[in-house]
Amino acid sequence: MKTKIDDITIIDIPKIVDPKGRGKLSVVEKNIIPFSIKRVYYLYDVPSDSYRGGHAHKKLLQFMIPLSGSFEVLLDDGVNKKKIMLNKPDKGLLIPQGIWREMDNFSSGAICMVLASEHYDESDYFRDYEEFKKSKLN
Ligand code: TYD
Repeated sequence: MKTKIDDITIIDIPKIVDPKGRGKLSVVEKNIIPFSIKRVYYLYDVPSDSYRGGHAHKKLLQFMIPLSGSFEVLLDDGVNKKKIMLNKPDKGLLIPQGIWREMDNFSSGAICMVLASEHYDESDYFRDYEEFKKSKLN
């Protein structure tokens, strides 16, 4: 898992603005992300003083979209760290495997939707930071 901070990208999600002013429609199709979606989950009702995440994945790729509100994502490849604020429903964050992440500073009503490349599998998680760091040395 040689993935690095620079492998994390913000992807523009195509947006159709209604010509009659009835709002916007964004669509995620297979051609904008590098995996087939096997699972969709979302975080909501997250208290503003809580954090989520605190793990990395061995194989799973994820595309994270702030459907509503905002939150911050701390990303860490074991050497370098980066913090990204997600607050636009037409901009998603592509997180490859082997990246530690923590999400916090959820605004009121924030919804974090995640499109995932695999089904849920607890054995795909690194939940221990030291174990994650060791895996990056291989
Ligand atoms: P976790 O991935 O740790 O959530 P977060 O990163 O947002 O803090 O998952 C929280 C709990 O939910 C954990 O017990 C596993 C369970 N879970 C599922 O059963 N299926 C899923 O698809 C996900 C993402 C989590």
